[in-house]
Amino acid sequence: MTGDTPFLRVENVSKTFEGDGVQHPSIHVIDNVSMDVAAGEFVVYLGPSGCGKTTLMRTVGGLETASAGAIYLGGEKVTGPDRRKGMVFQAYTSFPWFTVLENIRYGTKYRDDIGNAEKEEVSRHYLELVGLKDFADYYVNRISGGMRQRVAIARTLAASPDILLMDEPFGALDAQTREFLQNQLLEINREERKTTIFVTHDVEEAVVLADRIFMFSARPATIIEEIKVAEHITGERDIASKETEAFFYLRNHVRDLMRREARRTEELAQRELMAPEAKST
Ligand SMILES: Nc1ncnc2c1ncn2[C@@H]1O[C@H](COP(=O)(O)OP(=O)(O)O)[C@@H](O)[C@H]1O
Ligand SMILES: [Mg+2]
Repeated sequence: MTGDTPFLRVENVSKTFEGDGVQHPSIHVIDNVSMDVAAGEFVVYLGPSGCGKTTLMRTVGGLETASAGAIYLGGEKVTGPDRRKGMVFQAYTSFPWFTVLENIRYGTKYRDDIGNAEKEEVSRHYLELVGLKDFADYYVNRISGGMRQRVAIARTLAASPDILLMDEPFGALDAQTREFLQNQLLEINREERKTTIFVTHDVEEAVVLADRIFMFSARPATIIEEIKVAEHITGERDIASKETEAFFYLRNHVRDLMRREARRTEELAQRELMAPEAKST
């Protein structure tokens, strides 16, 4: 990687899901999106439901192929998923018949950069980092949803990915658990700055977590604004940051943008309902 190669580059990416020409029309989901992300940055993709956030994140992760444009990670073109891209999804993806520690250990399984002793160390390190030391031997089907997401995060980090891709990982949790996990993620991020793309449609979550927010339009997703949160909310970030004036200001601004795009999404859905054949924009 040379000095001026960004850690992650999204270059003029567009995505259309091709229809079958019969029942399912083509859907234009992402429209010419470009961005550079620096190593260690925490970036949030924010936008209304159905705008294309997951699709863009999956494209960065190599799970979808761009219809136009390209993604470069460390200067190399992304052509498919691999262990350099660690993903955490909303649905719990841990093994229920494994214990907490076994699940985390699984993250180290395919690493060839370290030996078994070090894998054990790494697994225990992440077990502690997500605060589950006392639950190491619990089976995952016996712990709460919030704990399961912490297991998923620990397991993903234990695999030592270059980039962490998180798709609404707290979306299924109640408000209190969600806030607790946001705080914990901020803590983890303070200890080990991992380049992260975090997808959400929750305005407060976006503002409290992000160094930078990319605000997307209603479908097809285009970047309508880039919000440099870290320039406004300076200093150590934690849940108390939600009480600062800078936070209120940004939240209100972003909320206005979200309301506008959510309204456009609603109108789009209504039009599609009225004229299904006009869906292929
Ligand atoms: N594999 C697919 N085939 C066809 N359409 C898809 C596929 N995946 C997503 N879509 C459509 O693309 C649009 C954007 O979806 P998505 O990226 O999941 O949005 P978001 O994550 O912002 O809610 C939606 O209309 C969705 O139905
Ligand atoms: Mg999504």
